[in-house]
Amino acid sequence: MNKIIVTGGLGFIGSNLINLLISKNYYVINVDKISYSSNFYNTKEFKNSKNYKFIKCDIVDNKLKKIIFKYKPIGIFNLAAETHVDRSIDNPNNFIQSNILGVFNLLEHFKEYSKKYNSKLIHISTDEVYGDILNGRSSENYAYQPSSPYAASKAASDHLVSSYVRTYKIPAIVTNCSNNYGPKQHPEKLIPKLIYNILNNKPLPIYGNGKNSREWIYVKDHCEALIKVFKKGKIGEFYNIGSNKNLNNLQVSKELIKISGKKIKIGKRVKILFIKDRPGHDVRYALNSGKIKSKLGWKARTNFRQGIKLTFDWYFKNKNYYKSLSKKDIVKRLGKG
Ligand SMILES: NC(=O)c1ccc[n+]([C@@H]2O[C@H](COP(=O)([O-])OP(=O)(O)OC[C@H]3O[C@@H](n4cnc5c(N)ncnc54)[C@H](O)[C@@H]3O)[C@@H](O)[C@H]2O)c1
Repeated sequence: MNKIIVTGGLGFIGSNLINLLISKNYYVINVDKISYSSNFYNTKEFKNSKNYKFIKCDIVDNKLKKIIFKYKPIGIFNLAAETHVDRSIDNPNNFIQSNILGVFNLLEHFKEYSKKYNSKLIHISTDEVYGDILNGRSSENYAYQPSSPYAASKAASDHLVSSYVRTYKIPAIVTNCSNNYGPKQHPEKLIPKLIYNILNNKPLPIYGNGKNSREWIYVKDHCEALIKVFKKGKIGEFYNIGSNKNLNNLQVSKELIKISGKKIKIGKRVKILFIKDRPGHDVRYALNSGKIKSKLGWKARTNFRQGIKLTFDWYFKNKNYYKSLSKKDIVKRLGKG
């Protein structure tokens, strides 16, 4: 059976990706260090599958080499990372460790491994590396202009990956995706936080004037794109992955209030509350995903209306998901600078 290593598979996108890979009959080894954003609730659907194995390991650790050589994966999807911009503002150190030194360690081992065995590394990155895109949409050849320590650490890792492709000829590809939403996302992020507050009759905190605009993609669409890139993508290339649909935070909040109002009686305290903005907050990200569409034949299938409904329904049915996380991690305001 074909084996795949997914790093960061206890997190949001990693656990959704593993689910999809198992459904396509891959054997998946999930390598995760178990951090505050990890959740075993995310793997409960497949934790007993004969196609799944979890190994606790930090990608900075040399134990990673043993795992790679033992399981001999035909592919590695690297999703292990510190991911919350606000946390990177408060304490960038972990971001440098995991997102830069961790990727460096992975690259060193993968360099050796890929000389002996046929394999591919898919490094998962973000649209945030392009910085503010006030007009138009950024294509893959746009300059990197990261604004937060998070985005800068991801940018550094992308550059490391492409330098290893050029210098050591490793078989690797970088993907840059826009803002994901869907089941199993940590409620420090906007959409699951708003749903948590709606379900608990709390105000909906929105940074600044609420006009910050993001391109929202349903997580399953992202995971399908990653598998497409793995199968058909060209080594050394970068692929943007987006939905082409931008909404600002205010529009997202209003949409959520509308959808939840059809399912539950909304409490009186559920009202938009503008709070102090995040320092350095980018106004807009927007990707041009024409390349993956024309070269690999992928495009996002879920429109925002459908996706947000599926998302609300999942959190509504899985209220225990929130209980499995530390309340402090859900409600504490971070990244005030
Ligand atoms: N969420 C988004 O909207 C989005 C968009 C584009 C790209 N990405 C990228 O996708 C990847 C996954 O994001 P997510 O939202 O699922 O994140 P997440 O925070 O939900 O999960 C990250 C997982 O990685 C693990 N991890 C962190 N550092 C590690 C290390 N050093 N060794 C092993 N495991 C480690 C954590 O324990 C956690 O389980 C990240 O690389 C992120 O930059 C995310």
